[in-house]
Amino acid sequence: MDPLSKPLALPCGAALKNRVAKAAMTEGLADSNDNATECHETLYGRWSDGGAGLLLTGNVMVDRRYLERPGNVVIDGNGGEAALRRWAAAGTRGGNHLWMQISHPGRQCTRMSSSHPVSSSSVKLKGMMGLMAPPRALEIVEIHDIIRRFAHVARIAKDTGFTGVQIHSAHGYLSSQFLSPRANRRTDEWGGSLENRARFLLEVYGAVREAVGPEFPIAAKLNSADFQKGGFSKEESTQVARWLAERGLDLLEISGGTYEQMALFGDMGDDAERKAESTKRREAYFLEYARDMRQAVEGMPLMVTGGFRTPSLMREVVAAGEVDVIGIGRPLCVATDLPQVLTQGGSEPLPTPEKDLRLGPGMLGRASPIHSMRTLNGQAEVAWFYRQIIELSEGREPVASLGAWGALFGHFGREAGLARRRKFKAKPIALPASRET
Ligand SMILES: Cc1cc2nc3c(=O)[nH]c(=O)nc-3n(C[C@H](O)[C@H](O)[C@H](O)COP(=O)(O)O)c2cc1C
Repeated sequence: MDPLSKPLALPCGAALKNRVAKAAMTEGLADSNDNATECHETLYGRWSDGGAGLLLTGNVMVDRRYLERPGNVVIDGNGGEAALRRWAAAGTRGGNHLWMQISHPGRQCTRMSSSHPVSSSSVKLKGMMGLMAPPRALEIVEIHDIIRRFAHVARIAKDTGFTGVQIHSAHGYLSSQFLSPRANRRTDEWGGSLENRARFLLEVYGAVREAVGPEFPIAAKLNSADFQKGGFSKEESTQVARWLAERGLDLLEISGGTYEQMALFGDMGDDAERKAESTKRREAYFLEYARDMRQAVEGMPLMVTGGFRTPSLMREVVAAGEVDVIGIGRPLCVATDLPQVLTQGGSEPLPTPEKDLRLGPGMLGRASPIHSMRTLNGQAEVAWFYRQIIELSEGREPVASLGAWGALFGHFGREAGLARRRKFKAKPIALPASRET
């Protein structure tokens, strides 16, 4: 039997039909009320037909005041359940699992949704060309409110037919901001020691578990490290994984990086250790970390996402028990049936359109020493994939001929239109002045 086609039993009792997962990719397809649409049904129906054992949705937000981008689906007590039911039905029609990724952007909140973002502390995001406003530190009562919101979204996901949830605690989103000593400078019980910095994630996990019960799958996406000086480290990540395993987490997805440091796409910036390692093995950026983590948290299923493109490597690591689930993102924006091909023994490398996408020539490419040029290239790359997701969601085929500049301008134009049409208009929130926590 092909290792990729073996079912996987999860601690809660549920099972995945195979070892290939579609990683979370934000869709930007919500309507002006921040609800799911027919486009979600079309898109996830196609991915469900593609044969993956698990589909993770893109970010679903817990609070409409704070979005990662306009077009995020939001669940915060304002309806929209009928559309979620249709989305879940389409996304599970192939007999796969469909898990909702639950998220709060914290300081990675676009100005198009709010110019008053919140974070663990009032630490500004570097780079990103001013697309995100500086955050203020959350009040303790707001932290408890956000934890309740995660639980609420999980309960609605379960009620509307999603078969699991994932807590987004990677890539510099709010939970990852709490974990990072660079972003979290609090001196109360939510900052300082690792135990305090991990409190937000662990309390979210506890509240979500209470909301969905012991038999419903809960996953978390966690950075193997932030790949920044003074950031969340590999050793800390391993300890947090241990705590999650002790509490019965069903699947830990390992990724890495933040908006300041796009390691999730293989850009390791100035991290010499990572560069050496990624030269050795030009794909599956987080595999070495996963191997160490496997030893630390035996028994908790592990998914690794980021750069997997060679089927023989995927089979090797699954057969060796180093990784339980292979996460795939970008290739599934251009070929939705890849999981079927892989589980039926396919050996062709997966497509890598990202390799040909650059805004500037040579030194101004993604490895540019100029941070804003790297940011622009990263934005163009992601915009190119956003556009392919839109094409798929409208029943069309991907547009391979799209250039990087075209993708970037098209993306910003579309997002501005979505932001204008949103019914909800953010207002500054009347809370006591921000403390410098
Ligand atoms: C268009 C796009 C949107 C993404 N949106 C999300 C998201 O909503 N949540 C998340 O955790 N990761 C998101 N990611 C990161 C992917 O889940 C994945 O970690 C990354 O693409 C690396 O995997 P790959 O090399 O197979 O593409 C996104 C990536 C892309 C390309």
